[in-house]
Amino acid sequence: MMRELIPLSIPHISGNEWKYVKECLDTGWVSSVGSYVDQFEQRVSEYVGAEFGIATVNGTAALHLSLLACGIRPGDEVIAPSFTFIAPVNAIRYCGASPVFIGSDPATLGLDVNKVNDFLAQECALRNGELYNKQSGRKVSAILPVHIFGHPVDMAPLNDVAGQYELPVIEDASESLGSEYQERKTGSLSTVGCFSFNGNKIITCGGGGMVTTNDESLANRIRHLSTQANKKPFEYEHDEVGYNYRLTNIQAALGVAQLEQLDSFVEIKRKNAAHYRELLAGIPNVDLAWEEPWAKSNFWLCTLMVSPADRIPLMEYLISQNIQVRPAWKLMHTLSMYQDCQVYKIEASVAEYERCISIPSSVQLTAEDIQFVVDRIKAYFDQR
Ligand SMILES: Cc1ncc(COP(=O)(O)O)c(C=O)c1O
Repeated sequence: MMRELIPLSIPHISGNEWKYVKECLDTGWVSSVGSYVDQFEQRVSEYVGAEFGIATVNGTAALHLSLLACGIRPGDEVIAPSFTFIAPVNAIRYCGASPVFIGSDPATLGLDVNKVNDFLAQECALRNGELYNKQSGRKVSAILPVHIFGHPVDMAPLNDVAGQYELPVIEDASESLGSEYQERKTGSLSTVGCFSFNGNKIITCGGGGMVTTNDESLANRIRHLSTQANKKPFEYEHDEVGYNYRLTNIQAALGVAQLEQLDSFVEIKRKNAAHYRELLAGIPNVDLAWEEPWAKSNFWLCTLMVSPADRIPLMEYLISQNIQVRPAWKLMHTLSMYQDCQVYKIEASVAEYERCISIPSSVQLTAEDIQFVVDRIKAYFDQR
C-alpha cells in the first residue's frame, strides 16, 4: 500500500489560532484595523529586534513598499540575486526599476558579497555622490539580498559595501523568520527587513507580510503608502497615489497565535535538519545545504545538493514514492521578463540551481517520515 503523501511545507495550526480568529468574528473586527494587527506588528518587530513593524497584505507588498520608501525610482537599478523566488524581483519592476543579477555564494546560496563588491567597484562609477552603472548608464539605488531557504546572507560585509556607496539594503527575510546572523535576527540587520506569512512559511497568516525597520521616517512612509496615502482619514485627504496593502485583523489574529509557537517551530525544524543530515551522511553523492559558523538557520526548507545528472530523476523517483519535493526556482535571468537584465558573475547560481532539491520540511514531520525520505533517497542511488 502507498504511504500517505509527505508534504514539502504545510502550516502547523496547533495553538490559539481558532480562539483568536473567533474573537475577530465575534466582535466584528475583521478588517484592516484591529487589536491583532497592532499586536502582530509589535510582537514581530520585538521578536526580530527592530523598532517598528508595518503589517502588509503579503510579503511581495512589503518588498514593494520598502523599495518605494527607499527611494527607488523608474529607470533605477537594484542589485539582486538571480537565485531567488520571483517576488523581490517583481517588486523591483513594480517600481519601474531593473534588477542587476549578481551571482550566489555557494556557502549560503544567497548573494555573494565579494561579487557585489566587485560589481560596484569595477562596473559602477560615482557621479555627484550617486552611483551609476557604467554599462547601462543607470543609477544603482539599492541592494536586495534574499536569505534563501532560511539561511542568512553574510550581512556584515554586505552592509559595509552598501555603506561605502550609501546604498540602502532591503533584506528579504521572507523565508528566514527566526534565523540569526551573528546572534541577531534576520530582518533587523539593515535598512529594512521584509517578511512573508504565506501558507508555506515557518508561520502563516494564510497570507500576510511585514516590514521591520529602525528608521522612523521610513516606517511612517511605508505605513502611509500602505493605507492609500490617506493623510487625514476622516476627510479622505490622500496626498499621493497609495496602495491598499494593509493586513486584516483576522489574518493578524492567526499570525499572533502562530508567533506564540515560533520558537518551538524553529527548534523542531533545526532538529529535523540535523536528523536528515545525520542519516544522509552515509550516502555518497548527496549533501544537505548546511549553515555557516556565524549563522543560525531556521531551516525553512531542507535542501539536498546532488549532481545535475541526478536532480530530475531523483525528484521524479521521490514524487513516485509520495514524497513532495521541489526544484529551486528557475533563475530569474532565464525568465522572459528578465532575460534582458544585466547579469554579473552568475556561474555559481547556475551551478547551485542545477544541484538543488528541496525535501519535506514541515514542522509536523516525524522521525519516521525523515527515515522514510532518506531510505528512498538511498534506494534511488542503490538502483541507479
Ligand atoms: C524570498 C521570498 N520573497 C518574497 C516572497 C513573497 O511573499 P508573499 O507570497 O507573501 O507575497 C516569498 C514567498 O512567497 C519568498 O520566498
